[in-house]
Amino acid sequence: MRGEISLENYKENRNVSNEYVPNHGNEYACWLQYNKIKESAWMEEYKTWCSNLVVVENSEVINSAKAELLRGISSMLGFNPSVLMEPQQKTLIMLGTIGKTDLLDNRINKQEFEHLNPDGYVIKTVTVGEHNRLLLIGKTEKGALYAAFHLLRLMQTRKHLHNLDIIQNPKNPLRMINQWDNMDGSIERGYAGKSIFYENNKITTRLDRIKDYARLLSSVGINAIAINNVNVHQVETKLTTSEFLPDVAKIADIFRAYGIRTFLSINYASPIQIGNLPTADPLEPKVREWWRERVEEIYRYIPDFGGFLVKADSEHRPGPFTYNRNHADGANVIAEALNPFGGLVIWRCFVYNCLQDWRDRSTDRAKAAYDHFKPLDGKFLDNVILQIKNGPMDFQVREPVSPLFGAMENTNQMLEFQITQEYTGQQRHLCYLVPQWKEVLDFDTFAKGEESTVKRIVDGSLFQYSNCGITAVSNIGNDTNWTGHTLAQANLYGYGRLTWDPDLSSEEITDEWVRQTFGHDPLVVEQIGKMLMDSWRIYENYTSPLGIGWMVNPGHHYGPNVDGYEYSVWGTYHYADCHGIGVNRTVKDGTGYTGQYFPPNAQIYESLESCPDELLLFFHHVPYTHRLKSGKTVIQHIYDTHFDGVEQAEGLKQRWTSLKGKIDDARYDSVLKRLNEQIEHAREWRDVINTYFYRKSGIPDEQNRTIY
Ligand code: GCU
Repeated sequence: MRGEISLENYKENRNVSNEYVPNHGNEYACWLQYNKIKESAWMEEYKTWCSNLVVVENSEVINSAKAELLRGISSMLGFNPSVLMEPQQKTLIMLGTIGKTDLLDNRINKQEFEHLNPDGYVIKTVTVGEHNRLLLIGKTEKGALYAAFHLLRLMQTRKHLHNLDIIQNPKNPLRMINQWDNMDGSIERGYAGKSIFYENNKITTRLDRIKDYARLLSSVGINAIAINNVNVHQVETKLTTSEFLPDVAKIADIFRAYGIRTFLSINYASPIQIGNLPTADPLEPKVREWWRERVEEIYRYIPDFGGFLVKADSEHRPGPFTYNRNHADGANVIAEALNPFGGLVIWRCFVYNCLQDWRDRSTDRAKAAYDHFKPLDGKFLDNVILQIKNGPMDFQVREPVSPLFGAMENTNQMLEFQITQEYTGQQRHLCYLVPQWKEVLDFDTFAKGEESTVKRIVDGSLFQYSNCGITAVSNIGNDTNWTGHTLAQANLYGYGRLTWDPDLSSEEITDEWVRQTFGHDPLVVEQIGKMLMDSWRIYENYTSPLGIGWMVNPGHHYGPNVDGYEYSVWGTYHYADCHGIGVNRTVKDGTGYTGQYFPPNAQIYESLESCPDELLLFFHHVPYTHRLKSGKTVIQHIYDTHFDGVEQAEGLKQRWTSLKGKIDDARYDSVLKRLNEQIEHAREWRDVINTYFYRKSGIPDEQNRTIY
């Protein structure tokens, strides 16, 4: 039954014996398949190393690491390793943390750990006498847990274990997930069933599933989670009270054992709604006192509570503006309360006037976050982090990078991605977002000259931020395969891997994911890899062109509707008419948005000649006959990409069907179903978009293809 499944009972549920069934994975296990290894050479090698495990420490996180090793090894090798309290004259794995026992410390150069972040680790093979030791040593116990998952990944991807000399150091201090789950069990922008956290306005009692989620997240290095939607309704406001804290604490216990700190999204008007105060004015002493008491109580239940995620003064949510206070006033009062406990306030910069009149060309939604926050640089307390969406608008298929990155040298920043595919096909279409995220992370802001990339800003190295990192909106629900589209599991995996190391290439991440999830058949690895790597561009081709965004149905945001932007009731946001299309955001005679970037980006976007094609309509209003760098006119580009996009979507299906028989039927069939739907809906997109622009422009397709 949905939502009741766990990795232990999955196989029984599917009536599959615990013995390995060749080429059969299961959709619930995602990338932690741990299928029995069939190749005898690998089996022999791994058996040599994995027959004995020494763990002398005893703590929650170390016990998780031990349990993961035992589970993974026994499942892959078909036997349970012996667990020893001290090393013997054998080849063995030793798991632990540095500085806890001589057993480990004597075997390793402790200096190697000096430069490691707290979650870092070392994996090494050393020889003691005649025997080999495979050391998994964390700087902290979390590091040891990540080392255990790393070893299992090495085995699942068939890497040799002799001569290992790995030092791993997570680049980002915070590697976070935001659940947009509501307590009625629904998920805002959720496309994979109901919440695994809540049902009927209560916290779930099905904690197994949450544990399995913790395992998946921890296996890719996630260390923080906000467990409720940023839009906090009446009932969720009470999550910070004793009515729900005992149950929140149960969830926090599960995550803690996997190295993950729990956060809550809060309602800025909480002092009024649950505190019976007449105001939530941050400068009012009673409000300050109220937050202090609330926070104290939370820490009585959850001693390592992470802190609060706040959406304030945005899309009708309450905030400090009501009291003529700014965002720094708003955030600092809560930060003060959290500070003694080491808690954080993560304050979202998704603040704009959603009632903007688009006929008034002097206001521009894209400019809003920068305009609101840049003047407040240096005014936030140290335990406040500003959370900034990757683009200035809202997770569109293509947007420029938000100019706020790098613009606040004295204010902690973190980056927000959206794993859930709100505007990228809602997990009915294949759209692998790792290549998009890589472009954002690698974007050079020039904030401090060359090499001021977004990844160096949010990892804290450019401006020495004390708190920072990356977060993203989750794409999971209680569907058996977690993500609706089985291949959308790759987005969750890739996101985690990138937060750990933004320098990993898309290809490396993709290869790892495919091998762990679907095995090593070369055709499978090649075809799924290509499908994933091409999918973002394909989706972009048949949807919204040249960076203009939206063109989706208002509200649910699925399917084509060229004028369908809910906040443009007084005119179209894309300004398409019979002559041209696009938003003039130049300083010269547009909204002035390009001026928010550092040079040379400001000049590159300002000039029609240097603005990259894929963002042209985001920055410029041009005639349909304008020639792109590709040599095509804008209108011909729109026609061509939409025809191509459908063919490419059909190509995705061809690749997939070439794998029939090489993938278990359940996953094969469910992906095939989604690919068929994608093709059908891509055709709809093509026809709606092409017809609209043909009618608007009156310019025929050079190739005379049928446009309805
Ligand atoms: C988008 C999304 C909303 C969400 C908002 C946010 O506008 O459609 O559902 O609440 O982003 O990030 O706060």
